[in-house]
Amino acid sequence: MREAILVVPGVAMSEGAGVRIARLLGTQRLQLLDPFLMLDHFDSADADDYLAGFPDHPHRGFETVTYMLEGRMRHGDNRGHSGVIGTGGVQWMRAGRGIVHSEMPEQEEGRMRGFQLWVNLPARLKMTEPGYQEFPAASLGREARGEGVDLVVVAGATSRGTAGPVAAPHVDARYLDVALGPGARLEEPLPGDHAAMLAVYEGSVAVGGGGEVGALSLAVLGPGERVVARAGAAGARFLLLSGRPIGEPVAWGGPFVMNTREEVMQAFDDYRAGRF
Ligand code: CO
Repeated sequence: MREAILVVPGVAMSEGAGVRIARLLGTQRLQLLDPFLMLDHFDSADADDYLAGFPDHPHRGFETVTYMLEGRMRHGDNRGHSGVIGTGGVQWMRAGRGIVHSEMPEQEEGRMRGFQLWVNLPARLKMTEPGYQEFPAASLGREARGEGVDLVVVAGATSRGTAGPVAAPHVDARYLDVALGPGARLEEPLPGDHAAMLAVYEGSVAVGGGGEVGALSLAVLGPGERVVARAGAAGARFLLLSGRPIGEPVAWGGPFVMNTREEVMQAFDDYRAGRF
């Protein structure tokens, strides 16, 4: 059974043009969990916290995953691709060799909340063509197990065969959004060779034989073949994320994640020269 070997509280910070977020992965406490590089949670009903959005910025060498729990985000890039991610929808973007994009709220009031996850790419895929996998809420996998256990499957599949629409075979990613009623218990196998983490965003949950992990915190799961999570008295909502580690050197410079320092410098040169 996988135990929580590290619990990291979210760190409040500002991203983009001043959007308030809680960073769960990618902080000094936990810089990355191969193959995952970063996990941000945004949640506010105050438009001043999100209206400035994320104006044009570049990425190279990894994938960004935006999952909207509530609200609407418009995105656009320098290759003419654009669209809106609505409530419950997901956009899994491969930045690959380079993209310049923006992500701006498509709303001026109301609550906006969701997650952005960064997933690394192996060396052989870092310079591939950019691309998107985009799905509305209705396309995601849904599994109601009864006894207060409900899952939304974004990527990968559950042990009961509910599959998500996103394909991320380079790390065999599993992306589950789990809702547990008060005291409800989830038991789910996870591949033994996967790195795994649990991001609690409502209520609290006890992982394995350990104590309760509250919102907003990230629990890194230790070795094992399955995860057991039991919600506290108020229930719980959390992401359960796992993936096969890439096992390559990580050279990270701002919006570029490559294997070597030289490749990061090249990314800055290429971006400045308009080669994205
Ligand atoms: Co971005």
